[in-house]
Amino acid sequence: MNIILGITGSIAAYKAADLASQLVKQGHSVHAVMTRSAAEFITPLTLQTLTRNPVVVSLEDEKQSWKPSHIDLADQADLFLVAPATANVIANFANGNAPDPLASIYLALPRTTRVLIAPAMNGKMWLHPATQRNVERLKQDGCGFVGPAEGDLACGYEGIGRLSPVEEILAAI
Ligand SMILES: Cc1cc2nc3c(=O)[nH]c(=O)nc-3n(C[C@H](O)[C@H](O)[C@H](O)COP(=O)(O)O)c2cc1C
Repeated sequence: MNIILGITGSIAAYKAADLASQLVKQGHSVHAVMTRSAAEFITPLTLQTLTRNPVVVSLEDEKQSWKPSHIDLADQADLFLVAPATANVIANFANGNAPDPLASIYLALPRTTRVLIAPAMNGKMWLHPATQRNVERLKQDGCGFVGPAEGDLACGYEGIGRLSPVEEILAAI
């Protein structure tokens, strides 16, 4: 499969490296698209090396062909996977905002492309009515969700909000 792997600004972003590596080992073609915030947590170089493909971080990077690369990626994807997905990115998707390549690709996907979102955030952020409303809206729009899981959270709390284990995300795919 041709997979777009969206990575966003969560402490769980480092787990996306393992996910990318396993997807490549399974024979998938993986294109990582990172938010600027995600690049504070894990380097594009790591994802570029593991996926063997260029990593998209900024819309301004798109100078390689006449066709904007985010539109090209959207057209060619079999699966649009976001792991980890922040509250912010979920809100962008739900509201049709397109401030970065990841949300722009989401909006530009053909309606038949499968979307799988693996949220990761503080439990209060996840349970907030705004986030829950956004998740419901995305489910109505046809998005699939895996997790979040319960357990110790990096913010020091315990509860719901952890990124689902990589094996569960792979199984959901
Ligand atoms: C150390 C740290 C960890 C964070 N972890 C998360 C997280 O797991 N989930 C989340 O929704 N936001 C988290 N945030 C807040 C996001 O980074 C922030 O909302 C950012 O604007 C998200 O940008 P993005 O959605 O474009 O990637 C964290 C912030 C910091 C400083």
